[in-house]
Amino acid sequence: MRIIKTKNYDDMSRKAANIIAAQIITKPDCVLGLATGSTPIGTYKNLVEGYNNGDLDFSQVKSVNLDEYKGLPRENEQSYFYFMHDNLFKHVNIDLNNTNLPDGMEPDSDKACAEYDAVIASMGGVDLQLLGLGHDGHIGFNEPNDEFDKETHCVDLTEMTIEANKRFFASADEVPRQAYTMGIATIMRAKCVLMVVSGADKAQILKDAFFGPITPKVPASILQLHPNFILVADEAALSLV
Ligand code: GLP
Repeated sequence: MRIIKTKNYDDMSRKAANIIAAQIITKPDCVLGLATGSTPIGTYKNLVEGYNNGDLDFSQVKSVNLDEYKGLPRENEQSYFYFMHDNLFKHVNIDLNNTNLPDGMEPDSDKACAEYDAVIASMGGVDLQLLGLGHDGHIGFNEPNDEFDKETHCVDLTEMTIEANKRFFASADEVPRQAYTMGIATIMRAKCVLMVVSGADKAQILKDAFFGPITPKVPASILQLHPNFILVADEAALSLV
């Protein structure tokens, strides 16, 4: 595990974007695993800037997203499909046929998840997986106590996650109760995992995840075992370690 300590959110975003940019430059047809949540937004902004400056070319890049709410149509502004288009895809020259998210509108969970695993396998796996960190240690939507060895699957979101994500919805009642997410096994197979963490509110869970025992109670803790895991976190998030 490599830890890159940054001054603040902007510094974190720039450094994380630089790592992704290096991946795109060294392997133009790389497979990027992408994440949602508020933390990576600045990283995406920096990537868009890199594209606008002429430094980055996304024309051959392929992407797979970590997760999607079950039952939210793509046009819903809170769907992760919408988020990715809004924050990255529509601003760069990525071929939309090369971008993938789980199909949240497929009601048959087994089918949706098997199809998504097949998509990831057909791409030859993920070169670089970007991750945020949930307040309970979740990655993607792999909630505490999930097994470590799952592929894409359907999860029931915890109350804590529903609470945390309700800020994006009109009320907690509107937050979907389920989501499709890549599993820990899928995430651990990525050649490189890059996590971005910012803010004092993440300090305790960052400490638990990366300076505590490896346990499914803190899903992100498994990343301690990944051979190429880079944590880019700001001083506030690293304040307890
Ligand atoms: C959601 C996403 C996760 C993300 C987490 C933290 O639950 N499924 O991928 O890491 O939120 O979000 P934030 O970065 O807004 O704290």
